[in-house]
Amino acid sequence: MLLLPSNAVLLVSALLSLSNVVFADPEEPVITPAPSPTHELAERQVAGGEGTPILATLTFPYTALPTQVYPFAVLRGPQFGYNQCGAENASSTANCQTLVVNNASDFCLWGAPDPNSEMGNEEAKVVSFCTNPRWGGRPIPPGSIHGLQFMRTTAYIQIVGFIDNVALNLAPTDTGGELDPHGADLQGNPLGGVVYSLDPKFIDGSHPGQIRNWNLFVGSGLFCLKACYNDVKSPNYCENRYDLVGCEYNMPNTLTNGTFVECEGERQTPVGTYVENGQTLTWKMPYPLTTEPPYRPVVPASSNCRTFSSEQLFGAAPTNANPSGSNSGSSRPTPSGSNGSNGGSNSNSANPNPSQTGTGAAATVKLGMHAGLLVVAASFVAGGVLVVV
Ligand SMILES: *[C@@H]1O[C@H](CO)[C@@H](O)[C@H](O)[C@H]1NC(C)=O
Ligand SMILES: *[C@@H]1O[C@H](CO)[C@@H](O)[C@H](O)[C@H]1NC(C)=O
Ligand SMILES: *[C@@H]1O[C@H](CO)[C@@H](O)[C@H](O)[C@H]1NC(C)=O
Ligand SMILES: *[C@@H]1O[C@H](CO)[C@@H](O)[C@H](O)[C@H]1NC(C)=O
Repeated sequence: MLLLPSNAVLLVSALLSLSNVVFADPEEPVITPAPSPTHELAERQVAGGEGTPILATLTFPYTALPTQVYPFAVLRGPQFGYNQCGAENASSTANCQTLVVNNASDFCLWGAPDPNSEMGNEEAKVVSFCTNPRWGGRPIPPGSIHGLQFMRTTAYIQIVGFIDNVALNLAPTDTGGELDPHGADLQGNPLGGVVYSLDPKFIDGSHPGQIRNWNLFVGSGLFCLKACYNDVKSPNYCENRYDLVGCEYNMPNTLTNGTFVECEGERQTPVGTYVENGQTLTWKMPYPLTTEPPYRPVVPASSNCRTFSSEQLFGAAPTNANPSGSNSGSSRPTPSGSNGSNGGSNSNSANPNPSQTGTGAAATVKLGMHAGLLVVAASFVAGGVLVVV
């Protein structure tokens, strides 16, 4: 995420108020800020003690999910929404925090509960937005995704795409953030967020099976989501420590605007690893990020691509709003009514053919007077290429 000045101010005030944290009442959960301004695990206040489980250690069959997987009122907890989600409660106000990712036509993304949000302020409480009402999230309106590549490899499935920020309740100019089941305090972003798939590598009987390790970047009109197979432990293709360098480095891809494909692909070189003069080298991302990475990411080869139209995957874009509001598929404003200036305002980083960033999402990191705060904000930082402001 790019730490915009407004975020920085909010973040600082949030951190200053840490000593007065008031735990949520069950009606209005209050998600409190990350507890510690450091990336050094040993110095952080983290989950893992009694009554404070580490989110990534919690596993549930899809059909046996509790109402909330993280009801614990500790650190930033409890979670904002709920995990028992189904078609019955899919709506534009659903606070479902169970995300399902199956294929190019059937997936969910994390988005903000309230319109016009900055992801950096919402990462702890994001909710699922889905192309398919079956999973109980809020609808992603047909027509709001402008290009997409779904890729299946021998270690992970990955989906990257162009999406209107507004479809996920993000402000048109929001450069977004990174979500994963860890977070600085190991409670996850979002807290209680769990991810499932019907993909053959995950499927559990006829139900979606849990994905233990995943990460997702969203913002600047782009998203990328990777779900690592539970049986591939090393290398970690779902590494969450490179959150400042965006989709371009974390999920190198051949996303093309206006094109919708499902492909097989080679495994990427794990983020932070690169080959130079025949030597395999590693780069550890510094906080704050003060220089560009010493390498350019290599886009893995893809094959057997099947091409679709947007309509084949998502149906026709609605032309008028559903007045009843009861239909989960169209109770949001139509894309034409809500498009506004979204597409144009992110041109610096949403360009599909930028000379430098290739296919990267949110590939910009602004540094400057707020750079120090990137340390504080590190767990929700996306982006990529350095812009010194
Ligand atoms: C949503 O629907 C499912 C059934 O599909 C149900 O188990 C769950 O309790 C509902 N959740 C809410 C918050 O109403
Ligand atoms: C995605 O999976 C669903 C079943 O879950 C299927 O109906 C649909 O055709 C698939 N779409 C693609 C693009 O493979
Ligand atoms: C919405 O904006 C996107 C991105 O600028 C554009 O591709 C799309 O055509 C627009 N849709 C409508 C209905 O105006
Ligand atoms: C993608 O193409 C649409 C036109 O189909 C355009 O409106 C939109 O701005 C483009 N998106 C990006 C990220 O370039």
